[in-house]
Amino acid sequence: MDGPSGSGKSSVSRGVARALGLRYLDTGAMYRAMTWWMLQQGVDVADAAAVAARSGEPVIVSGTDPDGPAIRVDGADVAAPIREAQVTGAVSAVAAVPEVRVRLVALQREIIGAGGIVVEGRDIGTVVWPQAAVKIYLTASAEARALRRSAELSGTTAEAQQAAMARRDTLDSTRKTDPLSMADGAVELDTTPLTLEEVIDAVLSVVAERR
Ligand code: C5P
Repeated sequence: MDGPSGSGKSSVSRGVARALGLRYLDTGAMYRAMTWWMLQQGVDVADAAAVAARSGEPVIVSGTDPDGPAIRVDGADVAAPIREAQVTGAVSAVAAVPEVRVRLVALQREIIGAGGIVVEGRDIGTVVWPQAAVKIYLTASAEARALRRSAELSGTTAEAQQAAMARRDTLDSTRKTDPLSMADGAVELDTTPLTLEEVIDAVLSVVAERR
């Protein structure tokens, strides 16, 4: 399940995983965890060489329960801090560093290899697991995506949210390594006019057709 921020990937992926009794992996949380660790260590995240040099150090462990996706860095539960604005503002720069991607993609493939999983991210269908049985590309209008995110976060307006998201999406779509793009064979779903339940149902229909 790939798509830009705010397209509904997390809620939809978790809902689909629950409905089908599958595991769930949030790869964005792994890039956020790496970013959180870099900030904690005082690494200048704008310095790609510095980020690359330290990218092998943090021990990142991702849970795969759709009801409580846990993420730990060096044993600490970072589920809450990785959602803070400082991490959100820095994550695209860290995620653009090839050494970071090589390490996290290898971790992701290890988890996916055990089978039976819904995985969300930006490059899952294109790079991480192109052989996936079902590939979905979720989109939504910029306004809808910003509204959904500002409803989740207090203290930010839809306008401010839209500007920050547009910046992150531009960085994610234009970086050299594994940019966000629709995979060959992916089914594109525009979630703008749909409720969460409707999107989950649409994905479940695609899965049923492919089985
Ligand atoms: O999905 P989420 O918005 O939490 O992802 C945070 C960031 O992690 C994205 O903006 C992107 O820079 C990066 N990311 C990525 N590849 C993925 C998942 C996320 O580069 N597969």
